[in-house]
Amino acid sequence: MGKLDGRVVLITGAARGQGVVEARLFVAEGARVVLGDILDEAGKAAAEEIGDAARYVHLDVSNEDDWKRAVQVAVTEFGKLDGLVNNAGILAFAPIEEMSAEEYLRIVHVNQLGTFLGMKTALPAMRAAGGKGTIVNIASYAGLAGMEGLVAYASTKGAVLAMTRVAALEAAPNIRVNAICPGGVRTPMTNPGDIDGLTSPVPAPGEPDPASEIFGGIPLARIGEPDEIATAALYLTGGDSSYMTGTHIVVDGGWMAGVKLF
Ligand SMILES: NC(=O)c1ccc[n+]([C@@H]2O[C@H](COP(=O)([O-])OP(=O)(O)OC[C@H]3O[C@@H](n4cnc5c(N)ncnc54)[C@H](O)[C@@H]3O)[C@@H](O)[C@H]2O)c1
Repeated sequence: MGKLDGRVVLITGAARGQGVVEARLFVAEGARVVLGDILDEAGKAAAEEIGDAARYVHLDVSNEDDWKRAVQVAVTEFGKLDGLVNNAGILAFAPIEEMSAEEYLRIVHVNQLGTFLGMKTALPAMRAAGGKGTIVNIASYAGLAGMEGLVAYASTKGAVLAMTRVAALEAAPNIRVNAICPGGVRTPMTNPGDIDGLTSPVPAPGEPDPASEIFGGIPLARIGEPDEIATAALYLTGGDSSYMTGTHIVVDGGWMAGVKLF
């Protein structure tokens, strides 16, 4: 028996990175999933590879009409929608004095408006599904602690945490809304050499691991892997977290714990 038997979950940003790993894990646990992304070719390929329990839909999370279509795909193809993972996100580094208002708003539109539109569109469908729905919003370590160069990203992730709490109050008692704050995770987002790529392979033992070197100073002394976030998303989507709503889980290798000196 899977932890998500009978569930139908829409996952955004699911063409690559954490989203596609979550989609694979959720199906392995019995769910049917709709993968949404703007990378159509990769998203279709991912859904085909997962098989009959997956569909792909073009979903720009900043576009309300795309959201309506995506929720409709879940209902038409799988009969209902009772899970959402708001995972799509973008990042850009620039000091405050050098970041244009346009660039700031580009990040707000995806990370913040996208999460809001997702909850706004999915909640009525989840209520109609009648059961115990769940929403998981992917925030970030940067939503809890400052990080140089990430003024737009950090403020959107702080907003995601704030709206998670409001949504939890409005959706209770049948629908639970929680967030995850990952630290560094090995995906194209943290792979500047391949930011437009689809994979972030784990180096062979003994090979240099530049991604992990960046995070060498944190207690667990390495970058996180996407499946280590996907298991947290599974926990918050499944019944094991049945008494949790309006809160967040930090999955960061101990980064938030403080400064490790020795
Ligand atoms: N990688 C990290 O270190 C890290 C750390 C903390 C939080 N996060 C968050 O985790 C989530 C997943 O990121 P990831 O690490 O898998 O990065 P990623 O760049 O590999 O994946 C992000 C996905 O979002 C999609 N996307 C971008 N704009 C979109 C839009 N407008 N509509 C729909 N999809 C869109 C991309 O095409 C991509 O498939 C993001 O919300 C990110 O902010 C990542």
